Amino acid sequence: MASEHMSKQALKEPETITVALGERSYDICIGNDLLDQAGPIIEQLRPGVKCSIVTDENVARHHLAPLQTSLETAGIKNKAITLKPGEQTKSFDQLSALVENLLEQKIERGDLVIALGGGVIGDLTGFAASILRRGVDFIQIPTSLLAQVDSSVGGKTGINSQYGKNLIGAFHQPILVLCDIDVLKTLEPRQFHAGYAEVVKYGLIRDADFFHWLEDNRAKIYDLNPEALIHAIKTSCMMKAAIVSEDEKEHGLRALLNLGHTFGHAFEALTGYGDKLLHGEAIAIGMVLAFEFSQQLNLCDQGLANRVQSHFQDAQLPTKIQDIPDAAQIITLDALMEKMAQDKKVERSQLVFILAKAIGEAFVSRDIKPQTLKRFLEQNL
Ligand code: GLY
Repeated sequence: MASEHMSKQALKEPETITVALGERSYDICIGNDLLDQAGPIIEQLRPGVKCSIVTDENVARHHLAPLQTSLETAGIKNKAITLKPGEQTKSFDQLSALVENLLEQKIERGDLVIALGGGVIGDLTGFAASILRRGVDFIQIPTSLLAQVDSSVGGKTGINSQYGKNLIGAFHQPILVLCDIDVLKTLEPRQFHAGYAEVVKYGLIRDADFFHWLEDNRAKIYDLNPEALIHAIKTSCMMKAAIVSEDEKEHGLRALLNLGHTFGHAFEALTGYGDKLLHGEAIAIGMVLAFEFSQQLNLCDQGLANRVQSHFQDAQLPTKIQDIPDAAQIITLDALMEKMAQDKKVERSQLVFILAKAIGEAFVSRDIKPQTLKRFLEQNL
């Protein structure tokens, strides 16, 4: 996504947000040119450390050489492991191969693993780091908008199961997150749009003013205007950091971050976790449905779902089940009910939904009856 608006003059000093977790606290740095500054930043954090960089073929093409140059210039010994891109990489087979590869590279307890990539690479690498020698430290260098605002922050790591997405994993916090907005220039527009859905999520769950700001500034963000982009990423990361600091292991508050996810994960499972429907696209539809469901249950004012839907439409995102390719064949009522019952957000066989009282006022609901859900889904198929 080339943009003439993206200039390196803008905001040279990175913005820094701390995820406060006692001795496991860490910083998220957001700014320009951070790949080039990674070497000195990491050397200052861990003098004399050795690293393995885990990335995928697409990301490696654009961003591996600058990162390695920066590490080498700072005197940091490093090797790279380049995996196939795509959600299929979040599998047991790939995890096992990656862990063996890291052992072969002699990564020890005091060394570092760097995840250079989007959500798939971050989740898989973080999980590998959590089990390698019972846990080695890792750094997230997220290269997609989705990873910068969500998956790289907060320590959720893992792989997919045939029963659903992210069902196997561990909480393992990174020791640093570097969000370089320059890397977003090479992101495909569709991937960028999907990541934007996660940005909107923060406004919808806890910050109506941010949602209104996004309604006014989305076009600037899509133009990669550095100030707008940094404000959007910073606001998202600040909210995520605050929520994770309060509820690291998702006993309560953190569940709000799953707005749209109970629906969305079912759509992803039924479309095969592939290019047919990206995670951000699935949760965009899921968030509209969460507002429609909230309206139908008289929890929020009528008209809010339309407002959310029209923002996602402006953002070139799918907003209804019929927008999913081959929906009529694969998104059936029975299949949806089955997948939603298997989602990891099910507790003691109860469905857990994130619903809303207003824009910016999401809450966790544990009392939705399967029959109520079924009736709602029937109307939306
Ligand atoms: N992406 C949801 C969470 O990190 O909790």
